Amino acid sequence: MPKKAEALVLGVFSAPPDEGEPPAASTRPRAGGIELAVPAALSAGCAKAVLRRLEAAGVTGAPGSVTAVAAPAEGESGYQEGLPATIITVGLGDAESLDSEALRRSAGAVARWLTAAPAKFGHVATTLSDFGLAAAVEGWLLGSYQFTGFAHQAAHAPGVTFVAAGKGSKKEFVAAQITAEAVIFARDLVNTPANFCYPAAYADYLAHTAEQLGVKAQVFDAKELAKRGFGGVLAVGQGSHREPRVVHLKWKPKKAKKLTAPKLALVGKGITFDTGGISLKPARSMEDMISDMGGSAAAAAAVFAAARLDLQLEVTSTLAIAENMPSGHATRPGDVITHYGGTTSEIINTDAEGRLVLADAIAFAAETEPDYLVETSTLTGAQIVALGTRTAGVMGSPEFSAQVAAIGREVGENAWAMPLLEEHDEAARSPIADLRNASNSRDGGMLFAATYLSRFVPDSLPWAHVDIVGPSFNTGSAHGYTPKRATGTPVRTFIALMQKLCAATAPATGPEAKA
Ligand code: BES
Ligand code: MN
Ligand code: ZN
Repeated sequence: MPKKAEALVLGVFSAPPDEGEPPAASTRPRAGGIELAVPAALSAGCAKAVLRRLEAAGVTGAPGSVTAVAAPAEGESGYQEGLPATIITVGLGDAESLDSEALRRSAGAVARWLTAAPAKFGHVATTLSDFGLAAAVEGWLLGSYQFTGFAHQAAHAPGVTFVAAGKGSKKEFVAAQITAEAVIFARDLVNTPANFCYPAAYADYLAHTAEQLGVKAQVFDAKELAKRGFGGVLAVGQGSHREPRVVHLKWKPKKAKKLTAPKLALVGKGITFDTGGISLKPARSMEDMISDMGGSAAAAAAVFAAARLDLQLEVTSTLAIAENMPSGHATRPGDVITHYGGTTSEIINTDAEGRLVLADAIAFAAETEPDYLVETSTLTGAQIVALGTRTAGVMGSPEFSAQVAAIGREVGENAWAMPLLEEHDEAARSPIADLRNASNSRDGGMLFAATYLSRFVPDSLPWAHVDIVGPSFNTGSAHGYTPKRATGTPVRTFIALMQKLCAATAPATGPEAKA
């Protein structure tokens, strides 16, 4: 137990209501419907006394519920020398159903409670890592996150020591920390308002970060974009006096010759603010449109994490960054534009701008000949209509999309594979261009956007489009390790995908025909 710890954070399971004999395998002290998860840190006498106090405080072990009690003081029964003065418990639910996501959420909930606690703790110790080091560390760090931004109020998160009974390695700890920091990197960018996070500033910050991590960065400014034919990015950005950018990041490990893992191309939507343009959005909640670059933040964070983790694969990230504003220079409904690669779009709605910038970025990324392409974006409000606020929609090549969605669920970033609809081929037809950027009907709006994007993906390239409007920005209340506002989704999905690709020696499924 570290001397400086002012509190000890323990897990508490909810015991079955019948209060019978504890299962033979369980050595956990049990009383009043709860089981103390880690008796090892406490003497039997102390555990008993603590349990009594927890019972009196009405602790149930419900997932994420937090309670603080005083540890038995000197002279009281159960006093244990060297124990911090405060015991804080967090509910872990049923012992049987504790998986890594449940642990991550509970660790997040107690860390979040501590950062908001009126009694500010400077340092705490926890045994939560007994149940899984990586999940406990990830949940703790993500739950401690605060973006106070520009408020005159200091952030407070106590230091923490994980005192697990010998489980887990230094390597596992560091990987979990890098993973959490990648999520936090994305959260900070998304939470930063658009008057600070505008295309040039955002691109410069990414290039600066890349340089520090040994990631190659190319930044195309408006002049370069014009020269290279990025008509979608330019059309969306032209209403703003803040000029657009495309950033291309590339991580290639040092001993690259021996690389056998498939090549991954990530693509992200980076609209630093989306007013809708001439097809102006209503004022209500428009301030949330600072989050419209969340896809690009996640795609950048994933490449930086690959570098920090020294992942043995080649991964690029192509980020289409623009501010969508109405003005005398803005693109009009009815305009026709030419994308990178030559495909033309008739712009029906200037608020369907994400797909216009992504079309360029996808076509550009495909030229680098990746084995897989994954694009993510806050693309449609229809994502929330279809799947709610916590589940991303994944579309693209059926098999690969299903894999990406499954990886999301494995890491606690819920995602579900959705189809492309053949009727949308018709709906995407324009009489004067190759495509129109919006359908006449709102039906299946998330899926229509995916059909539009599919036209920029080569037929032989397995790809997935991850629509993250709800999951990337929490407009409700904080829960588990998920704060209000930016969540950093789907950074952990991307990291897990890259780790899986490193273990594969060829495209895991072989090139798959596009749907
Ligand atoms: N950035 C929005 C999507 C969005 C909506 C993000 C709500 C966050 C919250 C996107 O650019 C957009 O405006 N999509 C339109 C498309 C429509 C015009 C076809 C939408 O979903 O309404
Ligand atoms: Mn829009
Ligand atoms: Zn948008």
